[in-house]
Amino acid sequence: MSDLKLSKRLSTAASYVRSGAFVADIGTDHAYLPIYLVSNGIARLALASDINEGPILKAKENILKYDLTDKIYTEIANGLDKIEKYNPTDIVICGMGGELIAKILDSSSYIKSKNIRLILQPMTSIYELREYLSNGFSTIAENIVREDNKLYQVMCVEYDGKKHQYSRPELELGKLNIKNKGEEFISLLNLAIDKKIKRLNGLKVGGYDTSEVEAEILELEKLKNDV
Ligand SMILES: C[S@@+](CC[C@H](N)C(=O)[O-])C[C@H]1O[C@@H](n2cnc3c(N)ncnc32)[C@H](O)[C@@H]1O
Repeated sequence: MSDLKLSKRLSTAASYVRSGAFVADIGTDHAYLPIYLVSNGIARLALASDINEGPILKAKENILKYDLTDKIYTEIANGLDKIEKYNPTDIVICGMGGELIAKILDSSSYIKSKNIRLILQPMTSIYELREYLSNGFSTIAENIVREDNKLYQVMCVEYDGKKHQYSRPELELGKLNIKNKGEEFISLLNLAIDKKIKRLNGLKVGGYDTSEVEAEILELEKLKNDV
């Protein structure tokens, strides 16, 4: 057990890692997530991987500080390029744009296996990431967390090879988030509506067609009735 405390965003991601996992943290930066998981006995082994040397030097320092050099490997790699060498069961990608996450996943065949769990926390382009995942991945769990007054979506998916159909609000907010209506759901919904209203006003000023965005606002407003 270590004294390392994770942020709410990273501890939510950590909560989806399976007990006894070999976890790979892609874009690890400081390696806090693998250090937390291994030192608390959740993960058996870990890989802290990053595309840049600076973060890996920082990660190595922290791993040494927590005396975990025998349990946490480090690697400089682009996305999942060297992943086969480690054979991880659970792969975490947090704090990157949704389109970059989709690109990283798309260039790897390793993750297209039913035994591999992916834990993802996109900073942007969440709709696009879910659209990508709808082709072959099922959502096991997801949640919305607030940190420093910002909302983050964290999702846990596994490959099933099936095509999943989602509505526009489901791609934006998450089918399970809509179903579960957790404590931050209404805030996320209101934020999504506000963003669309701003877009609508901009379109109106420019004299553009507003019918599509109006329909999108209506779809989201309807979700409010069930909260
Ligand atoms: C904002 S930090 C996120 C750190 C940590 N995962 C978190 O969520 O707190 C993004 C990290 O991803 C790394 N990164 C960016 N593109 C990458 C890629 N294609 N493959 C691996 N790492 C990448 C960056 O070097 C950086 O350390």
